[in-house]
Amino acid sequence: MSPATGAVTDALRELHSRYAGDGQGELADYIPQLALADPGAFGLALISMDGHLYSAGDAGVPFTVQSVSKPFVYALALSLLGLDEVSRWVNAEPSGEAFNAISLERSTGRPANAMVNAGAIVTTALIPDTPVAPRFGRILDCLSRFAGRRLDVDEEVYASEAATGDRNRALAYLIRSTGPLPVDPVAAVETYFRQCSVRVTALDLAAMAATLAHGGVNPLTGDRVVAEPVAAQVLAVMATCGMYDGSGDWLLRVGLPAKSGVSGGLIAAGPARFGLAAYSPLLDPGGTSVRGRLAIGRLSERLGLHLMHNPALAASTVTLVTTADDLPAGPQAERGQPGRGRVAVAAAQGALDFTAAERVLYALDEAGTGRTGAVVLDLVRVTDIDTVARAMLRGGLARLAADGRHTAVADPDGRLREPGEEAGSIRSFASREEAVAACRATASG
Ligand code: DON
Repeated sequence: MSPATGAVTDALRELHSRYAGDGQGELADYIPQLALADPGAFGLALISMDGHLYSAGDAGVPFTVQSVSKPFVYALALSLLGLDEVSRWVNAEPSGEAFNAISLERSTGRPANAMVNAGAIVTTALIPDTPVAPRFGRILDCLSRFAGRRLDVDEEVYASEAATGDRNRALAYLIRSTGPLPVDPVAAVETYFRQCSVRVTALDLAAMAATLAHGGVNPLTGDRVVAEPVAAQVLAVMATCGMYDGSGDWLLRVGLPAKSGVSGGLIAAGPARFGLAAYSPLLDPGGTSVRGRLAIGRLSERLGLHLMHNPALAASTVTLVTTADDLPAGPQAERGQPGRGRVAVAAAQGALDFTAAERVLYALDEAGTGRTGAVVLDLVRVTDIDTVARAMLRGGLARLAADGRHTAVADPDGRLREPGEEAGSIRSFASREEAVAACRATASG
């Protein structure tokens, strides 16, 4: 174990040993094959956005994905058909009911959401089925790309579920009788059973969750599995519906988009932070892994992972607002000379998004005595600017210029340029010193 990152593994191991002895819960037995699982099995896995992988216990033990497949098949449907079309067939409202309830809109028969069985069956049915690309082949490919390796089906679990799945068949027929179901219900349910029988490990599930958290790009393989808006849409539905009638309580206490499955898998995603998975087949009455819930809940609390905590507040975007005259010992050329127009400097660092850009614009407004004189925006220590922040900063600089203030940007990596835009279209320099000197020259020229 590497000494520094061993601390992350230690946190997972500590959780593992804390809950391994907790024998509460029952194995799912309505699918007989699931009742054969080892009740002591317990694994945890976490994958970061850089693809760093951490695990404890039985993270490599295979089990069937069950309902944890639902968000990923929903992602596939959204990718192929778009949100508006998918939403015609499946709503995105929390049902407040158990996973196998008849959660259908009274007037239309449309399922409440894609996380409950009714909505998941319709979502599966929405995946196109063609001779060249059969429905289940598309689903297995998609799940495999999320996991970053080729997955397969546990045929015994599939046979067991197919033999006992009349409630799901009944749901499919009911949906067709009350509203639209785009394909034959039996065909839809058989594909749904196969999708639930895909074999994974906790490490696979952590990679799948991490891919959603990473905007649709698998952090292990670099494969863009779905577009960023699709990943965000899926995480939103996981946050509101992923834990069925316990979704509100889960979001309140744990604060992470999540999805549970009756074989004992449980995933949680920290957007732009990590993918997390637990496996332990002893379930609470709602069909969620008892140890998984305890471990992920405790981890969220201990590490402050709740989505509604705002870590961005602690990060400082603007590192400096001053006049060039006040700068600590720098090149002589940078230092102000009385009567030659003062140059204000605002410096930023890190990754700039909407929130960060607002702070930088505020700093630019504040920079300069009496809000006059030239202004330099120093982006030397900025690591990334998203499209929203770029447009905001460019707009802010243009407004300052329209206000009669000379502006220049220290932007050695051209981060403020639009993709494909010529260098020189904005007044940018390789260093703060050059930008200040240029402003000074213009001001005095
Ligand atoms: O449809 C079913 O009953 C199972 N194949 C999956 C249900 C499930 O995993 C519910 N989640 N906790």
